[in-house]
Amino acid sequence: MNAIMSSSGIPILDQLVDDLTENSFAIVDDFLSPVEVSSLSQLLADQFDAGDFKLAGIGNMQNFNVDKQIRNDHISWLDPESTDPGIVNLFHKIDGVVSYLNRTCFLALSEYEFHFARYQPGSFFKRHLDAFKTDDSRKISMVMYLNENWKAEEGGAIHLYVPGPDGTETTKVVYPIAGRLVCFRSDILEHEVIPATRARMSITGWLKTRPVMPF
Ligand code: OGA
Ligand code: MN
Repeated sequence: MNAIMSSSGIPILDQLVDDLTENSFAIVDDFLSPVEVSSLSQLLADQFDAGDFKLAGIGNMQNFNVDKQIRNDHISWLDPESTDPGIVNLFHKIDGVVSYLNRTCFLALSEYEFHFARYQPGSFFKRHLDAFKTDDSRKISMVMYLNENWKAEEGGAIHLYVPGPDGTETTKVVYPIAGRLVCFRSDILEHEVIPATRARMSITGWLKTRPVMPF
């Protein structure tokens, strides 16, 4: 039995796995409690004020570059060794997701990386896939939102482009409301961040398998 339950009484990790398997994505509201949201958003604000955020790039290693036509959010990587109680608690929660996915989906996830992200009003991230062309270690993308009282008219949705049978595609529009987790297959699901009229804060990361080095 899992400790984290959804309001309907279904363990949220069960729901998450069912939705990921069936649809390539899952949305879990209240994944973060209001207390967790407020401690993490305070930390994000402190790090932003301290100048820790950088303009985000695209690609990895030799393919890495910054292209403001594709994305123009700012990010700050979370330190895996952090002793901040909010971060320790977050990683503990993510560990729970990893071990559940490994038990139920035989995913062999062995590492992860997460960053804070801050989209200024008007910032965006055009349609993309999170898995890199030269490295398929990113398996599951997780985005957790930290925005209290977000309204649909403020924009800022993530659009998930969900492939259907016979080449059809549906667009799932998801607003970045506080506590919500959006989770999807990094190698399958293309998605896009639509500009917002107010600053948009999140924690984004990837559950990964250990990369296999080509010899
Ligand atoms: C990303 C991304 C989505 C979001 O950082 O790769 O797609 O909703 N983020 O912030
Ligand atoms: Mn992405």
